[in-house]
Amino acid sequence: MIKVVTDQAGVLRSMQSPLAEGSAELQIPMTRVLSITSGKGGVGKTVVVSNIAVSLAKQGKKVLIIDANLSLANIDVVLGILPEYNLNHFFNGEKTLEEVMVEGPYGLKILPAGSGVQQYTRLDGQLKMRLIDSLDALQEHFDVVLIDTESGLSDNVTYFNVAAQDILVVTTPEPTAMTDAYALMKLLSTQYHQKRFLLVVNETRGTAEGLDVFEKLTMVSGRYLDIFLDYLGCIPFDRKIHESVRQQQVMVDLYPDHKVAQALNTLSEKLIDVPVNNQAQGTLQFFWKQFLGVDAEAS
Ligand SMILES: Nc1ncnc2c1ncn2[C@@H]1O[C@H](COP(=O)(O)OP(=O)(O)OP(=O)(O)O)[C@@H](O)[C@H]1O
Ligand SMILES: [Mg+2]
Repeated sequence: MIKVVTDQAGVLRSMQSPLAEGSAELQIPMTRVLSITSGKGGVGKTVVVSNIAVSLAKQGKKVLIIDANLSLANIDVVLGILPEYNLNHFFNGEKTLEEVMVEGPYGLKILPAGSGVQQYTRLDGQLKMRLIDSLDALQEHFDVVLIDTESGLSDNVTYFNVAAQDILVVTTPEPTAMTDAYALMKLLSTQYHQKRFLLVVNETRGTAEGLDVFEKLTMVSGRYLDIFLDYLGCIPFDRKIHESVRQQQVMVDLYPDHKVAQALNTLSEKLIDVPVNNQAQGTLQFFWKQFLGVDAEAS
């Protein structure tokens, strides 16, 4: 804990210096860390993460996926891989992150989650700290880190979202999914000071529906929350996605010319182009340690 406070103070000091304020080095972190999250379950997070990851890896980017569904792993399933170890082996001290990490299509790397073990559904402060320290050591190897979170408002969900530089919220046009997306943004903005969210609307029937969802969420969040919502685009509803999940291959690989694959490729390009969150002026280490600093104070 002492280490966290010391490091955090150092980073905070350097952020206050005039040099650091204008420094491009601080404003453009080497590694982009994005969490992909939702209020309601089953809205397409894992589909989005796996397809974007493969799309970026195909473009030569070094990509890491962290499966943060710590008790109900999915990423390995949609990518058709059978990992020998998972994050539970890291949490119980049996393996290092490097030993848990597996390779997926086009050289992308995955930290798979375990399945059916309740033990890590709420990470304690020590495990959070160990995970962050080990991830810090890995981050320089990657251009993009994508964190596939659970749905809902659990402690693990807020932990991974606050740890990321940017939060991408996935919703469908269903009123329940939109209401839950709003509830999650409300929690993250009021309790965890997150001010910018990227939005993807999945399972749309046309681009107008995606825009309509964005406008509604912008209107209600503009009225009641102090946040900025950035619309990345929409993904059409299409049975082919279901088929690709069943075949354990991603759309951008299985049906690269299909309109859904094209929408997902466009999304991955936009994700890379979107300016880094203004709030995110430090490195990955800074954010994760900052969050743990908050956590440590609270406990
Ligand atoms: N655009 C789409 N069109 C049709 N079906 C889709 C689409 N997106 C996702 N699906 C279907 O919805 C299912 C759930 O998607 P996914 O597993 O990605 O959701 P999730 O948000 O990760 O769920 P969880 O909250 O359980 O982690 C997929 O298996 C797929 O069959
Ligand atoms: Mg999922």
